[in-house]
Amino acid sequence: MKTTDITVLALIGSPRKQGNTDIMADRLLAAAEEQGAETSKIYLDDYDVRPIGEVCDNSRQRDDPRSDDDFPALLECFLGANVIVWSTPVYWQGPSAQMKCFLDRMSSYFNRAEYAERFRGKGHIVLCAFGRPEQKHGEWITEPMKLTAEVLHGAYLGDVCVSVYEKGKIREMPEALEACRKLGVECVGWVQERRKC
Ligand SMILES: Cc1cc2nc3c(=O)[nH]c(=O)nc-3n(C[C@H](O)[C@H](O)[C@H](O)COP(=O)(O)O)c2cc1C
Repeated sequence: MKTTDITVLALIGSPRKQGNTDIMADRLLAAAEEQGAETSKIYLDDYDVRPIGEVCDNSRQRDDPRSDDDFPALLECFLGANVIVWSTPVYWQGPSAQMKCFLDRMSSYFNRAEYAERFRGKGHIVLCAFGRPEQKHGEWITEPMKLTAEVLHGAYLGDVCVSVYEKGKIREMPEALEACRKLGVECVGWVQERRKC
């Protein structure tokens, strides 16, 4: 039940519903809800978010030439959240195209005077699944997202990166799911602590 005005939003980059990154996000969101947060989840693949079009070099003066698609509505959901959960599989040494399109399109807004303040102060979490056995494959996602949190004047609250390939196999990995649950609890505590300052 919602007992706070804290909002946690998960952006799902995989086209697989109830795939590994979706299940990880569910676990995190359930824990955040138990702490009284309001949670929501967006499957990016359900929306029409085109790759960014030509924009000017100065990010403070950028327009979004493709703003007639679903991106502006999704951006409003993003801007209204206290914590963003970036949940994506590794696809070809990077985030999924669905996630990358969202990130690129954000760059048309984040530095504009009328938006900059609304991007600030969020907590950012990464959940990531990849098929390869080497743990470093998660870094294709975590390193750019740490920088994203910095550029958006937010805080990187942590990540869970798991080597898992088959759809839904993460259900058999209790340690990974427990790490997601913990982040769900911690992110609500982080918002509460920040508000005390
Ligand atoms: C198009 C595609 C590209 C992929 N590229 C990589 C990759 O570069 N490295 C890797 O470790 N796994 C790769 N994988 C495996 C996925 O990351 C892995 O199956 C993951 O668990 C999928 O998460 P999901 O169930 O949330 O969709 C790829 C899978 C697909 C379908």
